[in-house]
Amino acid sequence: MFIHLSRQSGQPLYLQVADQLRTKIENGDLVPNTRLPASRVLAQKLRVNRITIVNAYAELETEGLVVTRVGSGTFVAVGQDMPQSNNEVSLPWPNPLPPPRQWNASLMLAEMMRQARQPGIISFANGAPANEFLPVNEFRRSFNEVLRRDGATALQYEEAVGYQPLRDIIAGYLQQQDIQVTGNDVLITAGCQQALDITLRVLARDDNSVLVVEDPCYLGLLELVTAQRITPIGVSLDDHGLQTDRLEQIILRYRPRLIYVTPTFHNPTGVTMPLERRRALLEIALRYGISILEDTTYNELRYQGEALPTLKSLDTADLVFLAGGFSKTLAPGIRIGYLLVPSYLRERLITIKQTTDLLTSPLNQRALHAYLQSGHFCQHLDQVRMVYKERRDAMLAAIKQHFPAEASWRCPQGGMYVWVNMPTTGPTATDLYLTAINYNVAFAIGSVFSASGSFSHALRLSFVTHTPQEIEEGIRRLGKAWKELLARHARVAASANYQPTLHIL
Ligand SMILES: Cc1ncc(COP(=O)(O)O)c(C=O)c1O
Repeated sequence: MFIHLSRQSGQPLYLQVADQLRTKIENGDLVPNTRLPASRVLAQKLRVNRITIVNAYAELETEGLVVTRVGSGTFVAVGQDMPQSNNEVSLPWPNPLPPPRQWNASLMLAEMMRQARQPGIISFANGAPANEFLPVNEFRRSFNEVLRRDGATALQYEEAVGYQPLRDIIAGYLQQQDIQVTGNDVLITAGCQQALDITLRVLARDDNSVLVVEDPCYLGLLELVTAQRITPIGVSLDDHGLQTDRLEQIILRYRPRLIYVTPTFHNPTGVTMPLERRRALLEIALRYGISILEDTTYNELRYQGEALPTLKSLDTADLVFLAGGFSKTLAPGIRIGYLLVPSYLRERLITIKQTTDLLTSPLNQRALHAYLQSGHFCQHLDQVRMVYKERRDAMLAAIKQHFPAEASWRCPQGGMYVWVNMPTTGPTATDLYLTAINYNVAFAIGSVFSASGSFSHALRLSFVTHTPQEIEEGIRRLGKAWKELLARHARVAASANYQPTLHIL
């Protein structure tokens, strides 16, 4: 099998690989069930970055030409002319759902994250808080205090619903935000991710069930949706978040069970939904009796402007499930989040939590409780907000200076990310990523956050983990990588008669 690659052709390398594999599949040179070489192996042979191959396979997977079997590899798909499985049910009416998407973004992202962790790389790729703000000493004290005070109890099994004093303190904090709850309404989870997982399992899991998501959307949610065979329907965002005027049409067409939304400092775009839009969203959800899963992961990381009421605090009909956690504000490693559960679903949600992992670490729950009681949290948040704001401003200034004039971005009022739309006439974010890595700078490419694979020219840049000087340097390198790519494209356009390089598999 030959694959010819040309770095001068102007066509991204991953598309060259995908095109040639597609031709081989369509010609019958690669027959159904043929196992394609592992991405790492093929990347080595072609002397390209592994992401190039991951992207090429993802492209073919989206077209239904190959399938990825977890743990086994990527195979040429069995064609449409082959007998269908007996499990396929044919519907007597047209199925309004788009075909299920094989989610390959996580593989792509995992590879990017691996590269982004290489020494010397300035990485804007991940969504972790800054290392220097992880409260190591305070937690050392909290753990010691808990072990001294509670001894073996802190290391035992206990109720799945969570450590009551922690539930109470979280409820108290939510009451300050005008949410009418008590500790009994709080379910402690393993991070906010588990709160999302449990809610989906109860509210949306069912063959053909549909979930409305923002497009783009938090990747971890898209992964849950794929794992649970739920169909995500993306609604686009504008400067005010999810476009509620498009929502009604989607509800009527797809009959979703649930709407997942991050109204404040959305991941990945950073946008915040103003009060009127929050009200409009609730009003539509109420009219059609659809629940809302509100993700408040970034709410406390506000750098300017007034805090807005959560959807939950505006909700008078028990439609909203609020999920939150301490990963971005305190420490992702303690893995503690929470879900506010309406009384009519409490038992079911607790049962699912119990079935999933029995309970969240009692030691970590107690240590977090001791930490919150110590009163350090407010001070910690003030400090983090001050430093992250400086870093955000440094990033915005550097983008303005080093990115092309046609690029567009918003100033997020909080959170961790700047979302940049690069000119769609230029190289894709994947191309830029592959070039930028050679300049020792990394970011997250936009398309991994989209249920529809859109945003091929968008970049998500996390601004919290580097100093302003490093941010300026990283963005300068990105701007340079962009210019290099543009120049390469221009050279290719100018020279029509190039000789392709031949690599042999
Ligand atoms: C919007 C959003 N929700 C949930 C999570 C998961 O958070 P946790 O670490 O608390 O599980 C993340 C993490 O990046 C996120 O961005």
